[in-house]
Amino acid sequence: MKRPVASLGVIVLAAGRGTRMRSERAKVLHTIAGKALVLWVLDVAFELAPERVAVVVGQDADEVRDVCERHLRSRALDPAPRTAVVYPLQREQHGTGDAVRVALPAFAGFSGDVVILYGDVPRLTAGTVATLVARHRETQATLSLLTATVAEPAGYGRIRRAADGSVTGIVEERDLAAAERGIREVNPGIYCTSAAFLDAALARITNDNAQREYYLTDLVGIAVGDGQRVTAVAVDDCDEVAGINSRAELAAVESQVRRALVTRWMEAGVTIHDPATTYVEEGVTIGADTELGPNVQLLGRTRIGRRCRLDGTILLRDAEIGDGVHLRLGTVMTECRVGDDAVIGPFAHLRPGTELAAEVHIGNFVETKKARVGRGTKANHLTYLGDVEIGDATNVGAGTITCNYDGFAKHRTVIGSRVQIGSDTQLVAPVTVGDDAYIGAGTTVTRDVPAGHLVVSRVPQREVPGWVARRRARATTNAASPAAKKPEITLAPSSTAGSVVATPRKAQRKTPTRKNAAAKTVQRSSPRPARATSARRGKR
Ligand code: UD1
Ligand code: CA
Repeated sequence: MKRPVASLGVIVLAAGRGTRMRSERAKVLHTIAGKALVLWVLDVAFELAPERVAVVVGQDADEVRDVCERHLRSRALDPAPRTAVVYPLQREQHGTGDAVRVALPAFAGFSGDVVILYGDVPRLTAGTVATLVARHRETQATLSLLTATVAEPAGYGRIRRAADGSVTGIVEERDLAAAERGIREVNPGIYCTSAAFLDAALARITNDNAQREYYLTDLVGIAVGDGQRVTAVAVDDCDEVAGINSRAELAAVESQVRRALVTRWMEAGVTIHDPATTYVEEGVTIGADTELGPNVQLLGRTRIGRRCRLDGTILLRDAEIGDGVHLRLGTVMTECRVGDDAVIGPFAHLRPGTELAAEVHIGNFVETKKARVGRGTKANHLTYLGDVEIGDATNVGAGTITCNYDGFAKHRTVIGSRVQIGSDTQLVAPVTVGDDAYIGAGTTVTRDVPAGHLVVSRVPQREVPGWVARRRARATTNAASPAAKKPEITLAPSSTAGSVVATPRKAQRKTPTRKNAAAKTVQRSSPRPARATSARRGKR
């Protein structure tokens, strides 16, 4: 493919509302595979190595400009001092001709070729535009345009040709004469011309048409009328020049793009079991011999290493995954880093700031956030790890929770290496647990634990012999005489500071001490007083 070498300017039209989208957002901000429509076109513009670029903005102007600038910064598309992009503002959208007029001051004195692209044609490739520019130069035309012959011309301007086959003009769909409805050659809306011609010709167009707009397409008729050379270049791949005007067209193009992206990864050595349900956004990379199950969404800047296994039903956004990682069913990650050979899931939620070293295991129903976890550490079941740093080879037992929030601020938990954290442990941050410490199951850690210590905080266990039999007997008695059913229950403080137990009101006054109550209950055949108290204890 011959690429242009002489100076080139590009105008991207992105000011329109996109009425047919029925959206509050400008059409060009709608996305395909996670990338705004206008950015697909902007990338094409930059591939042409232009000297000047103008993106005409209007609807949601600030946002369109921000989206473009952020994209250009993030991609550093042009390693040399980047071609500055200007964003002329089209305050009111009076049509594509008016939009180009707004862009012209940016090309004052510019003697190169000017390419015009519409911001709603995302599948366009730079190669096709380069062909147009090359043909424009070869034929020394005043104006050149692409054309496409399509099965469904609805929505497009149609190409008018004379008997000798030469192009004479473009007629918009709404202005078509009955005899022209059969024309299937359409205008994709990609042109090459000069700033001088645009300047002179745009002054002559009117809005005397069905939409009362200034049509850029009228330039073709003007050039032909003036006896200027107009070159039409037919494209082979009509899909490439499809414009998006509605949500249905957006979806149709998105599925084509998605399919193309997925095919590209299969060609690069990735196994994709169900391409139809695999979504890989444009900025994603995947290493060879990685295997993707069904329902996988890889979004944003996600990078996946080699030989990984993603079982399925997985959503990763801006995640960096090493080599040989196994992501089991139902893993969700945002802004995370995962080291080689880690195993995650099923049903794990890794939130921003999660950094897992190699060989970490994160199991089912585990949530992490701002968690730096060392090599080989495991948290396999039902755990919350937030604002935490954990060393290597530590084992986090089932139901461990870092209590990182006190209602005012977030606090950090620091856990050393080779620590054994028993099940149902709460770590009340800020707190530090030294290397090799053991935390007994059910412990609430509120103070720092030195290295090598055992820490345990548990209510001592009691057993109440015969309690079940008595409780059942009472239930049977109550069922036989309904009047005795359901004693009124109130909450009374128990002997243990800080906790409350349910106590029958009539027993309240004579509630004995905790120790006595249990002793008496054990001896008594009738379970009347203090029975709820002992019931509570029986449960522990
Ligand atoms: C346009 C062409 C039509 C062509 C089709 C190809 C005209 C008059 N018609 O029609 O011949 O077949 O594209 O897709 O050019 N825009 C502005 N300012 C405006 C109006 C539009 O910046 O005042 C921008 C839009 O944001 C959009 C692009 O120009 O990115 C095209 O506008 P749109 O309204 O979609 O034109 P079509 O009706 O599709
Ligand atoms: Ca359009």
